[in-house]
Amino acid sequence: MNAWFTPDLMAILGLLAGVLCVLGLHGLSHPRTAVRGNRLAMAGMALAVIATFAHPSVQHLAAIVAALVVGAAIGIPLARRVSLVSLPQLVAAFHSFIGLAAALVAVGMYARSMAFGTLDAKGATELALGAAIGLITFSGSILAALKLQGVVGGQPWGWVGRHWLNLALALGILLCTVWFVATFSVWPLVLIVVLATVFGVTLVAPIGGADMPVVVSMLNSYSGWAAAATGFLLEQPLLVLVGALVGVSGAMLSAVMCKAMNRSFLSVIAGGFGAQTSAAGQGAAATQGTVALAGTADAAYLLQQAEHVVIVPGYGMAVAQAQHAVKALYAALTAQGVAVHFAIHPVAGRMPGHMNVLLAEADIPYDAVWELEEAAPRMAETDAVLVLGANDVVNPAAETDRTSPIFGMPVLPVWQAKQVYVVKRSQRPGYAGVENPLFVMPNCALVLGDAKAVVEALVAGVKDHA
Ligand code: TAP
Repeated sequence: MNAWFTPDLMAILGLLAGVLCVLGLHGLSHPRTAVRGNRLAMAGMALAVIATFAHPSVQHLAAIVAALVVGAAIGIPLARRVSLVSLPQLVAAFHSFIGLAAALVAVGMYARSMAFGTLDAKGATELALGAAIGLITFSGSILAALKLQGVVGGQPWGWVGRHWLNLALALGILLCTVWFVATFSVWPLVLIVVLATVFGVTLVAPIGGADMPVVVSMLNSYSGWAAAATGFLLEQPLLVLVGALVGVSGAMLSAVMCKAMNRSFLSVIAGGFGAQTSAAGQGAAATQGTVALAGTADAAYLLQQAEHVVIVPGYGMAVAQAQHAVKALYAALTAQGVAVHFAIHPVAGRMPGHMNVLLAEADIPYDAVWELEEAAPRMAETDAVLVLGANDVVNPAAETDRTSPIFGMPVLPVWQAKQVYVVKRSQRPGYAGVENPLFVMPNCALVLGDAKAVVEALVAGVKDHA
């Protein structure tokens, strides 16, 4: 070791990197501080990478740099090209790489320690855990990415006895771990690889569209634990620290989201235990009735006449990139004395904070933005609600239809307002694949069209009526 690069210096740099990551996570708790938080976390990671590379024990630096260049050549264009609405599936795909890396490190360490005869019980336990958590994360994340991308159906896949299968797989992994630690034989390790890969799939498959946000953050947490297990294996305290931070923060986010969606945390991590697996479109009986359609001129007139308007943005606003047009509508209405607020559901869009990010990008003032808890009790005193490309988060079936897959999820009760306009392109259901009885309610009308085009027409209409 170089005279200057002492273990103490490595420990100090590691601690500093860890503190920067913790401060970064803290910054992410509010949109105002999120950019600073991201920068602090990036600085922490950069410090961790530099400290690791500067360590004199690092060999084959050229091969590592070559791998970094190849990874960056693939990753940077991918990250640049991907749209914000596709980010969750990209994140899920990245989690799968972390899981795969953890499993590959475990297998590589096994080959190495068997060749040098250095495997002991502690190392074997870490190795089995790294392989198991890594492969659960790998296959679960791939399935989640495919579901989010719509390559495979987002509906819950239910089958008889799935909880017994999951229990058997978990027990199988545990028994193989004991077998492996006792014998160091390759066969239990092979079985762990197979069982954990299947377990990742059977954990994610039964979870339906509306609960996918929790699954993505759970897989985020698993990827952190996989990295921490790799840290133990490689005797890298920094990797243990950062992995544990990701693991704990992902688990905390999952718990917060479960609470917001009225789901049991245990039910989600146990592969939809106790969840309804009703078919898509249940609750369709409740949607029978006539859907009223409205034009943008009528809607603009009513919005301009209202004292208080609430705008509920959803995934469709993100797809249409309508946030700047929405800002123009906000400005046009407030200029005419209309009070305008935005009501954000915690899982609106396709990633946590998705709507907050878009509204912040368009410079919508923070104090005009209400969270679900603030907005819900005020709906009854609202003159007009403009639902902009949202669907599941305003579906009354979540409160009234016990057979619905989204039953129990808190929704924004927009139907309590005097008038509701829903902007979307068709009468198709939202992400959870559930029909929406809101559309046939007497105080609701659909304004069909792309969210950006409709909002631009509304802005023109509001200005015309001024
Ligand atoms: P959704 O229920 O997915 O509904 C979005 C609606 O937007 C669709 O019904 C679609 O109808 C409409 N739309 C799409 N493109 C449009 C465009 N260009 N212009 C106008 N409308 C457009 O969205 P939501 O209400 O925001 O709810 C989010 C759902 O995603 C929830 O089920 C949630 O659990 C799930 N999810 C959320 C996350 C996170 S973390 N937020 C992650 C994964 C999944 P048309 O096709 O008729 O236009």
